[in-house]
Amino acid sequence: MQVLVCKNPAEVAEAASMIFASLIYEKPNCILGLATGSTPVPTYQRLIALYNKGLLDFSKVRSYNLDEYVSLAGTHPCSYRYFMNTELFDHVNIDKANTHVPNGLGDDPEANAREYDKMLEECGGIDLQLLGIGRNGHIGFNEPRNDHFVYNTNIVTLTQSTREANAQYFDKPEDMPEKAISMGVGGIMAAKRVLLLATGKSKAQAVHDTVKGPITPMVPASILQAHQNCQIICDAEAASLL
Ligand code: GLP
Repeated sequence: MQVLVCKNPAEVAEAASMIFASLIYEKPNCILGLATGSTPVPTYQRLIALYNKGLLDFSKVRSYNLDEYVSLAGTHPCSYRYFMNTELFDHVNIDKANTHVPNGLGDDPEANAREYDKMLEECGGIDLQLLGIGRNGHIGFNEPRNDHFVYNTNIVTLTQSTREANAQYFDKPEDMPEKAISMGVGGIMAAKRVLLLATGKSKAQAVHDTVKGPITPMVPASILQAHQNCQIICDAEAASLL
């Protein structure tokens, strides 16, 4: 695991967008693992800017997102499908048919989870997986637990800490779903390269535990210590406890 400490969130985004851009230049039909949350937004903005300058072509790129809320339609402004459309996909020439977000709708979310794993298996492997990190060390929506890591795409009951952190995005905090569908740590670890971004003081403890603590399902991101090609890019605040 390699850690790069930048001065501020703008530098983090600059570094991350360069890594994405070089992959897309080198492998125009690459498979990206994408993430939501506020942390990757400036990275997406830089990728959009490069596209607008004619420097990036997303026409052959395919993408798989980490997670989605259970029971939110893709048209709901707080759904992660909506987020991806408005923050990135609507602004570049990616074919939406080549973009995948787990499906939190329908009577049988567990079946949707199995279907997502099948798609991940059949896609041939994610070339570059982008991650943010929760204040409690979660990646995707893989929440801390005291028994074992969950490898497959799964239905997660969100922790109080995550519900509090994410409720701000909902008009009424009580509308925030209690469950989500998330790629498991197996899907994340199977990516050829992983890039975790962390900015701000609220992530300092999680970054510390991820890099310096034991590998434990209580800190889901700590499993990345076992990944062959994982970089963490954080700003000075997020790195302040390292
Ligand atoms: C959500 C997402 C995670 C993301 C986390 C942190 O819980 N499921 O993938 O990493 O939020 O979000 P932010 O970047 O807004 O702090």
